[in-house]
Amino acid sequence: MKTIKLASGHEMPVFGLGTWQLTGDKCKEAVKKAIELGYNHIDTAWIYGNQEEIGEALKEANVDRSKLFITSKVWKDNLDYKGVLSQCKETLDQLQLDYLDLYLIHWPNPSMDLEETFRAFNELVEEGKVKSVGVSNFNSALTKEAQELSEVPVSVNQVEFHPYLNQKNLLKFCKKNNVVVTSYSPLARGKILQDNVLKNIADENNKTISQVALRWMLQKDMIVIPKASSEDHIKENMDVFDWKLSDENMEKIDDISEKHRVVDVGGVDFDD
Ligand SMILES: NC(=O)c1ccc[n+]([C@@H]2O[C@H](COP(=O)([O-])OP(=O)(O)OC[C@H]3O[C@@H](n4cnc5c(N)ncnc54)[C@H](OP(=O)(O)O)[C@@H]3O)[C@@H](O)[C@H]2O)c1
Repeated sequence: MKTIKLASGHEMPVFGLGTWQLTGDKCKEAVKKAIELGYNHIDTAWIYGNQEEIGEALKEANVDRSKLFITSKVWKDNLDYKGVLSQCKETLDQLQLDYLDLYLIHWPNPSMDLEETFRAFNELVEEGKVKSVGVSNFNSALTKEAQELSEVPVSVNQVEFHPYLNQKNLLKFCKKNNVVVTSYSPLARGKILQDNVLKNIADENNKTISQVALRWMLQKDMIVIPKASSEDHIKENMDVFDWKLSDENMEKIDDISEKHRVVDVGGVDFDD
């Protein structure tokens, strides 16, 4: 799997499996199937309530831990020093892992002191429980604040990004500041799948709309984590590596005027 070098120095696979709303046996089977098909990067969060299932799937898949990249996120009510440490412990226990590859602040919370969060994050890195840290749903100003407060590099910002929410200013800011952007809801939960511009480009390239959308973001040096539970979707989404979109097609997708936001980030302004 192709990787990107993070500011922390660690490599992150550019493609992974999203797991929001995947729970129980369905989650376990999807994660096992994905790993069997070649996925090595799984995105979860404490709030998804599926870390135990993912832990079981990882165990049963029996893959060398060093070959996997596991991201989790601390929930916004637990950003105080003790809250971060205890939620990280719970996460590691549920996942049956000794360390996380990436630990993110799931949502900004203005009533919590970010300095405390990063004091805990830095400690987790020092102790080897977390390899890299980052943020999610942060705009440029908050990302900058996080960088100023953290001793270890803020490697990733995970935000909603897809052809109907092309956050080019935020992406530009993050690139300039060596923060890799992960696109969540890269398929806008299906909303982009009827788009005519994407459909024409997909037909021209003999690919599907999902593949075109994912490829568009990969060519912007982003990381994508589409969620899929069906085997067909899990397989289909992986076929984004041995072909390229032309500059012309990249621009056509950039120029799509339709706007749609899937996740309400209340109070946080995007794209800035
Ligand atoms: N940090 C955050 O605040 C945050 C917020 C939202 C999401 N996320 C992360 O990002 C991941 C992905 O986002 P998401 O789950 O919101 O939405 P998404 O990945 O944009 O869309 C998932 C939906 O698309 C369907 N799908 C997947 N591949 C498809 C294909 N090739 N053709 C047609 N349909 C396809 C899936 O169906 P099936 O399941 O039936 O296959 C599912 O219904 C999440 O799972 C989570 O890990 C993070």
